Amino acid sequence: MSHLIAPSVLSADFGQLATDVQMLNESTCDWIHCDVMDGRFVPNISFGFPVLQAIKAHAKKTLDVHLMIEAPELYIEQFQKAGADIITVHEEACTHLHRTLQQIKATGAKAGVALNPHTPVHVLSDVIEDIDVVCLMSVNPGFGGQKFIQNTYRKIEQLKALILERNASTLIEIDGGVNAENAPLLVKAGADVLVAGSFVFNSNSPAQTIQSLKEISL
Ligand code: DX5
Ligand code: ZN
Repeated sequence: MSHLIAPSVLSADFGQLATDVQMLNESTCDWIHCDVMDGRFVPNISFGFPVLQAIKAHAKKTLDVHLMIEAPELYIEQFQKAGADIITVHEEACTHLHRTLQQIKATGAKAGVALNPHTPVHVLSDVIEDIDVVCLMSVNPGFGGQKFIQNTYRKIEQLKALILERNASTLIEIDGGVNAENAPLLVKAGADVLVAGSFVFNSNSPAQTIQSLKEISL
């Protein structure tokens, strides 16, 4: 499988969200990454159900919903109903991660787990078979436009080894600071999905930037 591109609408223009989503529909992106922040788990507040529903109404691509919220288990069903195809919770926010993963799957959505930069990959070693996507944060979550953390390459290697060892089909997603320089290295290291926010939306031609990320080959 070639790698997937998931532009993050956090960097879109919320005053013309439908236009930006239409651009993504027409682009070669694979998923639309939606960052939900609660001002508790991360020091920023983004958007919730009404905005997600509005995105869903226009989107023709998979909605990849990244929950940067405390107690995500309280809202799983609501996020699925609002349009999430993939629901990603943070390992750091889940006391009963296994139960939360089952809860996500029960809604019919795919289950993702995100790891903050300081969280080692091995915390997932007993649940890896139950995870559809592991999102490795390559910045501290909360904001777009931050600098990529180099240690991510090492984590991709460790995660890849764990997935192979358990014969799991988990995808590796990288979120934060992805750009033209690191994208080829990330794909080479084993990333399956690249999230890109500011690099896509701050460029002159977002659709072309998406295509340039998609064209990376090993
Ligand atoms: C950060 C979010 C990211 C963010 C990425 O907390 O999870 O998805 O939108 O933005 P860039 O690509 O600008 O780092
Ligand atoms: Zn994200």
